[in-house]
Amino acid sequence: MASARGKVIFFGEHAVVYGHPALAGAISRQVAITVAESTEGEGVRLDIPCWEVRAAAGDGSAVGGALAAMTAAAGITAPVHLLGEADLPAAVGLGSSAALSVAVARALLPDAGGAAIEDVAMAGERAFHDNPSGIDVVMAARGGLGLFRRGAGLAAVDAPPVRLCIALSGESRQTAKMVAAVRARREAMPQKIDGELLTLGELAAAGAKACARGDVAAVGEMMDRAHAGLCAIGVSTDTLDALVTLARDAGALGAKLTGGGGGGAVIALAPGREDAVLGAWREAGFSAFACEAG
Ligand code: PMV
Repeated sequence: MASARGKVIFFGEHAVVYGHPALAGAISRQVAITVAESTEGEGVRLDIPCWEVRAAAGDGSAVGGALAAMTAAAGITAPVHLLGEADLPAAVGLGSSAALSVAVARALLPDAGGAAIEDVAMAGERAFHDNPSGIDVVMAARGGLGLFRRGAGLAAVDAPPVRLCIALSGESRQTAKMVAAVRARREAMPQKIDGELLTLGELAAAGAKACARGDVAAVGEMMDRAHAGLCAIGVSTDTLDALVTLARDAGALGAKLTGGGGGGAVIALAPGREDAVLGAWREAGFSAFACEAG
């Protein structure tokens, strides 16, 4: 069995696509892949019943496209049947496509080193997403807490894992569409959007330092500022804003959307107030859980 973890982005989503830093942590939710019996002529298949995924390489679906890209990158020509299980929710901004890509790469190439796994997984992630920065793949492959910059890669941040509350908005969304929407807004309003992206990246660098010195109050305050910046670049929704407000009203030190936005997940930092935050979200009808990031 091969597995890989999901991630949360504390700071710098979208900014990281344009070369700014982002701070992310791997979470204790994962995707696991086993290689099942395959029969001659069936090609490369992947079934993940809990995500309602049933795909074959090159079948025209997003997963089928990623499978085709990964098997080509891995040099696999024999039929393979992969079976997946996950406790990581799919398509909510928690890095499910990258966790899937890394777990599949590990299942296809059990003896490969970390760099080869990341290369094969990136081929999958490129098939899933429009111009991925690579942060999700690196986090899924390496874990921990780290500051990522496109081109420079990941610098590990020496800090204990951070306990977070996570709520799911239930709105369907696609990271690729959100990245394309930010690109279009940046073309229309380059100065405004570039200014916001720069600030989001600066929050990531400052957030890494605050995590390293254990200053949770500062991290929380920066999360609130980051959510405002993400609203300004147009990737929040009314539901995400409502989830952020519910968390703050229940005593969180800070809360923000995480990942591509347009729906998906909200994270809140609420030491000592986790039950109150999770309770407020659940009472409002949202699914929510606590987990460790880093
Ligand atoms: O929505 P997710 O978990 O795939 O987050 C991706 C983060 C972005 O910065 C929006 C895109 C990227 O490629 O870095």
